[in-house]
Amino acid sequence: MPLQRSEAPVVARDRRDVAAPPARASTGGTPLAGVAAVGLTGIVLAHAGIGPLDGGGLGIDVLLVLAGFVVTLALLAEIEATGRVSLGAFYGRALRVLGPAPAVTLVVVCGVSLVAGGAGELKGEALAALGFASNWYSVGTAGAAVTLGEASVLQHLWAVAIVGQVVLVWPVVVIGCARLGGWARVRRVALVGAVASALLMAVLAVTGDVPGSAAAARVAFGTDTRLTAVLLGAALATAWTPSGPRSPIDPGARRVWNAVGVLALGGIVVAYVAVGETSDAAFRGGSALVAVAAVALVAAATVPFGRLRTVFTAPVFGWVGARAYAIYLWHWPVLAVTEPGGRLPLGGAVGTLVRIVVVVVLADLTHRFLERPLRDGAVGATIERLRLAEGEARARLRRRVAMTTAVAVTVMTVVVAGMAMTPSVASGSDEADVETGSEAVEPQPAPVDCAVRACVALTFDDGPGTHTDRLLRILDEKDVTATFFMLGVQVDSLPGVVRRVHEHGHEIGVHTWDHADLLTIDLDAAEEQIRSGVEAVEAVIDERPRLLRPPYGSTDGTIHELAAQQGLTEILWDVDPFDWRDRDTATVTNRILDGVTRGSIVLMHDTRLTTVDAVPAIIDGLRAAGFTLVPVGTLFDGLLEPGATFSSGGHAPEPTPTVTATSAATP
Ligand code: NI
Repeated sequence: MPLQRSEAPVVARDRRDVAAPPARASTGGTPLAGVAAVGLTGIVLAHAGIGPLDGGGLGIDVLLVLAGFVVTLALLAEIEATGRVSLGAFYGRALRVLGPAPAVTLVVVCGVSLVAGGAGELKGEALAALGFASNWYSVGTAGAAVTLGEASVLQHLWAVAIVGQVVLVWPVVVIGCARLGGWARVRRVALVGAVASALLMAVLAVTGDVPGSAAAARVAFGTDTRLTAVLLGAALATAWTPSGPRSPIDPGARRVWNAVGVLALGGIVVAYVAVGETSDAAFRGGSALVAVAAVALVAAATVPFGRLRTVFTAPVFGWVGARAYAIYLWHWPVLAVTEPGGRLPLGGAVGTLVRIVVVVVLADLTHRFLERPLRDGAVGATIERLRLAEGEARARLRRRVAMTTAVAVTVMTVVVAGMAMTPSVASGSDEADVETGSEAVEPQPAPVDCAVRACVALTFDDGPGTHTDRLLRILDEKDVTATFFMLGVQVDSLPGVVRRVHEHGHEIGVHTWDHADLLTIDLDAAEEQIRSGVEAVEAVIDERPRLLRPPYGSTDGTIHELAAQQGLTEILWDVDPFDWRDRDTATVTNRILDGVTRGSIVLMHDTRLTTVDAVPAIIDGLRAAGFTLVPVGTLFDGLLEPGATFSSGGHAPEPTPTVTATSAATP
């Protein structure tokens, strides 16, 4: 543990041996800029869909560690320098750093949404953002939609809100603890809080069956569940100064720190690749482990003469670090609008490059014309210049200031008035259906005749889940109707998603209640599994499902009979890309494109983000190869009989009475 090393000198609390300047640590030009870049890189690449970085979003924990570290360091430095913290001045500084950039993002996003539509959905969220309460707004409204694509363009402000709340409360805690027991007390409180927060996240994730259930937002966005990273950063600050550890470090220890830095960086990269941002692992300890690694990274990067320090103080990191906040603020709305299922989809390598460039340019402009001038006291300087200028120069300056102010005030007034006049629509909740309802009930196109066309059916199992809404948007965009085999337990927890799947014209079948292997349980239990699944779907869409997919493809004559009693036809598959195992978009796409023949039934899982992301390429590839994509009901038009079983077919379907399970390991 990096924290124990400097235990002794901190407990001693000899304030005179702390040579660090009480300056507010800024990320630019310090090794912290490199740490910020590590966090941001994961987030931006993951959300832009670049590389195998399913878990890059965990970079937010790296940024939250930095936030906790920097804020606490500033507080401790002020206490060391003056013996107290001037809360008013501290809040003022924090607001100047944290406030303006999101305000501009908010105005621009709301302005664009007023012109392009969707402002009603953003109204509540914009108000929440103004009060640094975005995360709790998301908890109340987002349901299971916690990832890009299903989420609102302002959802990323949850992290900004948490930092805002921490900045409000944490100084009071630090002052109290420092008075009672010094830095050691601050650290103990931070560590206990961090562990408690990590445990709370894990417990809520397990009991709430997160991800995939409606409780996901509570776990993902709660201030209490997300404090781990911030508090671990704070704990490190009690043993550190902006320039490094409070206790001197000998050359041997420096070598250890070099190794720690490499390990921490490696661990973070592994998490980016191996742990999904909204996966089980992320919520059940993954996020906390990334925070621990980030603490080690910050420590290793700030050790004097350390290797990592040399790397992280390179100019490129300084550039990114200075713009880190602005990049975070812009990346989400820009990427959300331009992603494959978004309003302005930009695909391919060039499209991806354009998306990133837009984010960086907006961030640079925000930094250049807002953050840096404010940091450098531009407002005060202008007033001063206005006071001192004379004659023509004074008039010119006044005109310019008046013009700038007028433009800013006008834009703000127009946007605020526009938002105020827009009726609010709850986003992410079932009410959003009202808006999409008009498209959803479009007349169906003329039925496809699979005797003539080379039909293929895309099927999605195990949902509904956190990525189902994103899939719906892609299917809408590509004008494809698919078949979903849903688990009753998921239907029960996400009825709104089920309703949307139905209203968008897709076919819904049953995948049992909770994915039991029907051949390993007794007959009554198997009957119950099927029946409760059917009832769950029927309760939501008011329509009896006709299709059953037995989990793992486990079926036999007895199961055929049970299916027949419920009026169900069993649908297996002939193309299995193993997407649940190999979470790689390209691999999944290639396996499907290689495996499909006329009449194929393709097995996929809408519970996997990598699968959902593969769908646009799969659809394009299959269409380019001449296939027509249809739901299962169309593939077997007129042939669906209770008790029959199909694993492929379409043009010349033959019921397959016994089908060997394709794989014992299919989820
Ligand atoms: Ni399954």
